[in-house]
Amino acid sequence: MSHNGKLYIETVGCQMNMLDSELVVGALRQKNYELTSDIKAADTILFNTCSVREHAEHKIYSQLGRLKFAKRQRPNLVIGVMGCMAQKDQELIFDRAPHVDLVAGTGQLAEIPRLIDESRATRERRTALSLGRRDGSRDEVAGSFESYDPLRDPEMRPSPYQAFVRIMIGCDKFCTYCVVPATRGPEQSRPPSQILSEVRTLAGQGVKEVILLGQTVNSYRHTENGQLFRLSDLLSLIHDTPGIERIKFVTNYPKDMTTDLLEAVRDLPKVCRYLHVPAQHGCDEQLKRMKRGYTIADYREMMARIREIVPGCAVSSDFIVGFCGETEEAFQKSMDLIRECRFKNSFIFKYSARPGTKADDLWSDDVPEDVKKWRNNEMLALQNSISEEDNADFIGSTVTVLCEGPSKAALKKYGQPVENRSDSSNAFTAGNPAGTETHKLQLMGRTDCDRIVVFDGNPRLSGSLVEVDIHDCTPTTLLGSIVTHALTHGMEFTLPVVF
Ligand code: 5AD
Ligand code: SF4
Repeated sequence: MSHNGKLYIETVGCQMNMLDSELVVGALRQKNYELTSDIKAADTILFNTCSVREHAEHKIYSQLGRLKFAKRQRPNLVIGVMGCMAQKDQELIFDRAPHVDLVAGTGQLAEIPRLIDESRATRERRTALSLGRRDGSRDEVAGSFESYDPLRDPEMRPSPYQAFVRIMIGCDKFCTYCVVPATRGPEQSRPPSQILSEVRTLAGQGVKEVILLGQTVNSYRHTENGQLFRLSDLLSLIHDTPGIERIKFVTNYPKDMTTDLLEAVRDLPKVCRYLHVPAQHGCDEQLKRMKRGYTIADYREMMARIREIVPGCAVSSDFIVGFCGETEEAFQKSMDLIRECRFKNSFIFKYSARPGTKADDLWSDDVPEDVKKWRNNEMLALQNSISEEDNADFIGSTVTVLCEGPSKAALKKYGQPVENRSDSSNAFTAGNPAGTETHKLQLMGRTDCDRIVVFDGNPRLSGSLVEVDIHDCTPTTLLGSIVTHALTHGMEFTLPVVF
């Protein structure tokens, strides 16, 4: 059944969710849906949800609440909840928001187009859910979570030059605070041949940078034709794909940061020297309670190996503050670890007790909210000062940047790029008087080490590697201007680009 309707989708959460949304939108567009950014104009509304923290769920439930009346005014409307909250709350979503028509878990995305059609045609509710972790044998549960990786619609990617590639789904680490093993099911790696063919297709569509995704991406293991592939082998396999210039992978699990992987990062020039390896905490007792599977000594040993094998590699981390039983002394140990490791950046989260997790069953959420907030701010201030100091070291140097397009500030000033990217070489200027051919805009991109760089330039530079002289910085950003290398009489010198 084909439908000439309008789809509105809202995505919260991690990069895996961004990819899932891209793929679902692509599938619906093939069925003649048009994407709209106006929720009032839509006849299909999807929420791709996150359950990692309570706050994210609250926001979705209050958004759903607001749609109660829209449903009365537009009886043809189909409202769907997909992603982690759908798998976790299941039918409970219908109790809390009776006007929801569709609930589809993370392992059931392929079903969504059909279920939307059915729900609209019958005006009945539809659910598509995978098994709970205790609802069958490992194989049965794993079989109920399907990796969803259909052919892409290149126009749907957030950037035409970058693409996420899922290399595994699920998680088997069962950190005591975390819902992901329940919402995304057992850890399953995709076959290397499928990943390679996806990377080749993406390269053919103009993608320059692939970001390999997995909840614990460096736990990747898959045996194909009798050969075991680890992440290091997979990186070698896809490395020489023509057109691909950069390869990144997120998120890493400290215990699985093996030497073969670090050597691959060192030896394969297209692999970015950037590793996101969440420590979560700096105190052994807390790590044990979190069931992270390593001690601070182990994490230190890993950091030393990264520094030794991949000099100059940027490392970023996640931290949770205010976890059950976290004393001031324990918190200070996290601060010490940040001082010692000098992460490029850290994502800092206040502990949010999640029903169904081991931590929630075993311990009380005993750190008061104002203490969590204070620790969060202290940690943020420390990390920012380190990030700014380290960024300042780049002032006066020249860095290579993969230009991603107009910066956030430019987008705010001149509006969003056009939705239809058929003319992707000049996506921003099409239909936008401010961004004419000769107009200089503030552009952004990233270095090999994932440092964000902003500089003025023509939006046509999007998707190319440019050299940028750095002259200033903030904790999060390097500021610079483009240089170009000109070869005159065999002498190379640099000069500013003239527009
Ligand atoms: N509360 C707060 N932060 C959490 N994270 C995961 N679960 C929770 C929770 N219950 C954080 C971890 C993880 C990141 C994606 O979210 O730091 O690395
Ligand atoms: Fe959650 Fe731990 Fe798995 Fe990360 S490794 S997704 S924190 S259970």
